[in-house]
Amino acid sequence: KNLAVFASGTGTNFEAIADAIEAGQLKAKLTLVVVDKQNAPVIEKARQRGIDVFAFNPKDYSSKPDYEREIIAQCQAHHVDFIALAGYMRLLSPLMLEAYDQRIVNIHPSLLPAFKGKDAIGQAIDYGVKVMGVTIHYVDASMDGGRIIAQRAFAVQPQWSKEEIEAQVHAIEHVLYPETLKMLVEE
Ligand code: GRF
Repeated sequence: KNLAVFASGTGTNFEAIADAIEAGQLKAKLTLVVVDKQNAPVIEKARQRGIDVFAFNPKDYSSKPDYEREIIAQCQAHHVDFIALAGYMRLLSPLMLEAYDQRIVNIHPSLLPAFKGKDAIGQAIDYGVKVMGVTIHYVDASMDGGRIIAQRAFAVQPQWSKEEIEAQVHAIEHVLYPETLKMLVEE
């Protein structure tokens, strides 16, 4: 199947997915990366791997359906079957959700339904939870709200700094996302 990754930032999850494909661990093709921020580091990372990038500025469009129509056209032109959101910081409208019904997933750095939204790791640290983790879920119109596909938890060691906790979350993400996509897209 052909995959698209949607991202807004650093793109370490994009890299983990692209690496898994290159290593033959995930049998899929990454045909498009969609980015809503002109200077996001993920753009260069994708281009260096020779993957097409659609980078747009939402401000250039009058509404969300307006730019989503363009995203859908780009996805169709790249024969995209399945979409993985990886740090894409926007809610999707019904237009996008209907075009790829049950074929859009997201990764979130908490054990949902706890700590939805921005800075989930910071929220969890502030709350003082002793077990944290990562969730992969189908995307619906709500924020971090769709049906859960996979979760992985870890125990927070008392001496860990915020940076160490973040590193642990990301290390889990980079294993769990390719693994889960394998289950979802390989035929
Ligand atoms: C990840 O922590 C992901 O769970 C969240 O945004 C972050 C994206 O990081 N949704 P990156 O751009 O993949 O490095």
